[in-house]
Amino acid sequence: MKALQSKKELRETLHGLRAQFERKGNPNSAAVGLVPTMGFLHEGHLELIRRCKEECAITVVSIFVNPTQFNDPSDYENYPVDLKRDLDLLEKEGVDIAFLPNAVEMYPENQISVQMSLPELTSNLCGAHRRGHFDGVLLVVAKFFNIVDPDRAYFGLKDYQQFLVIRTMARSLDLSVQVIGCETVREEDGLAMSSRNARLSEKAREHAALIPRALNLVQKTLNDRKGRYSVACDELCEIASDVIESGTLNQVEYMEIVDPDSLKKLDEIQTDRTARIATAVFCDGVRLIDNRPLHF
Ligand code: PAJ
Repeated sequence: MKALQSKKELRETLHGLRAQFERKGNPNSAAVGLVPTMGFLHEGHLELIRRCKEECAITVVSIFVNPTQFNDPSDYENYPVDLKRDLDLLEKEGVDIAFLPNAVEMYPENQISVQMSLPELTSNLCGAHRRGHFDGVLLVVAKFFNIVDPDRAYFGLKDYQQFLVIRTMARSLDLSVQVIGCETVREEDGLAMSSRNARLSEKAREHAALIPRALNLVQKTLNDRKGRYSVACDELCEIASDVIESGTLNQVEYMEIVDPDSLKKLDEIQTDRTARIATAVFCDGVRLIDNRPLHF
């Protein structure tokens, strides 16, 4: 595995690997796959990498804690980092290139920055509560797409709004990259894996397990109401929030049921319609997110 810090080195290395692939590569596989991450890797990240390796000849994983997407400076400062462990994991997975730029490489001091935004998809859910967050995500991912020029890029559905925002950006800018969403990887008790879980105390970790349970309970409630024409989303959200806040360390920031494509808030779920329930919860001060599809 090559660990590279500079854009120039990355471009040159990829140029060589791509030429090799074009000479003797498998015509059924894509050339370059990209998995962008902020490091402190866990099974959720590794599943994206495995899928990328299955589908692409060359796998690039970026590790960069992107300052422009943190609206809370203390969240940025406390973001967990363990580069040595991450690089060992990437090596074991057989990754071809780890791209590890620093902040100056990504945002040179003398460079005037473009602003990116996608208001239609970011006015609710995390977009409403983390001002500027998705602008920062879009900017850094657009830069990675331009630097790496991947055929495919892999994102987790745990960050469902992020996945939609990035896919929409790629389509809207006519980028040739295919943006692929991968299922959420969970701990045994259902908690979505996250680098932030490392910051939970033992007690908080127990309370955090109420989050996926509450979301699953909403689907169960819908199953129990089969035969009705519709169910009010406010009622379902209240059921879920109550379960989560029965854990005294939990505070729900938002709980919303939305259309899975437009992310518009739904007032009711109707028969044969799909929806997505999404939440953010402060668990003893650590912000965790989760979501799941709903079928009625
Ligand atoms: P990060 O939180 O490190 O996540 C990197 C990728 O891993 C994202 O696509 C995220 O959705 C995915 N991921 C995280 N936890 C997962 C889980 N439990 N199951 C499946 N996939 C999971 O998301 C970011 O970094 C950044 O915003 C980034 C896209 C890298 C831009 O800076």
